[in-house]
Amino acid sequence: MWEYTDKVKDFFLHPKNIGEIENPDAVGDVGSIVCGDALRLTLKIDKDTKRITDARFQTFGCASAIASSSALTELVKGKTIEEALKVSNQDIADFLGGLPKEKMHCSVMGREALEAAIANYRGQPNVVEEEGKLVCECFNITEEKIRKIAIENHLTTVDEITDYTKAGGGCGECREEIEAILRDIWSLKIPEKPKKPKKLTNLQKIALIQEIIEREIRPGLQSDGGDIELIDIDGNKVIIALRGMCTGCVMSGVTITGVQDKLRELVSEEIVVDAQ
Ligand code: FES
Repeated sequence: MWEYTDKVKDFFLHPKNIGEIENPDAVGDVGSIVCGDALRLTLKIDKDTKRITDARFQTFGCASAIASSSALTELVKGKTIEEALKVSNQDIADFLGGLPKEKMHCSVMGREALEAAIANYRGQPNVVEEEGKLVCECFNITEEKIRKIAIENHLTTVDEITDYTKAGGGCGECREEIEAILRDIWSLKIPEKPKKPKKLTNLQKIALIQEIIEREIRPGLQSDGGDIELIDIDGNKVIIALRGMCTGCVMSGVTITGVQDKLRELVSEEIVVDAQ
């Protein structure tokens, strides 16, 4: 059995933005029912500001596919199309508090539907779905897609590729070819996962937290009309205050969790963030 977070369960049982927009400005269709997962994303985009004013989804898939699709619509609503294109499959998984590794392909499907919808809006072809040599016939996965997902997510094993794309998870005949693709990618470039500093003094930790908030967190919040103020740091406890549009926002809990996740990723897993 998969271990689902409470948020995945909530977004599966009470999905937000389900359905199809009438006269959408963009449509993204990915996956196929034959392969077990399919997703249609429809967007309404303000033609002057290029901001996504509405996002809805229809999906055929498991609990993770429904939760990931719903999370995607929540993440992109209110963003410009340029901002939305920065939403990665990892952002979708993080928004849900994580997905079982075997279900990461659901977050990838969400990201691909977003790319397909924006390509459709711009009158461009859906590159990942249409280009490249077919590697996995069971799941209709191209070499182009395997390379893209491996590089974006630092994947180095065939099993990881299966978790993120399903390729290799059927008859298994393509697994050798996937392994060769991975060897080719990573013999040229070793994947670099973001590294955390090993041992910090209190002063170093305080300075690093301030730097991460300024460099990694504040710009994103300010681009949505919000802001963050660092109030205090007491050991691993970080007290912040949300400002601007973030004040009283219904998603403020998600924002605080996002701040905590980023600080845990880049400073220390012990960090706990509280908001005033
Ligand atoms: S061809 Fe890839 S699993 Fe069958």
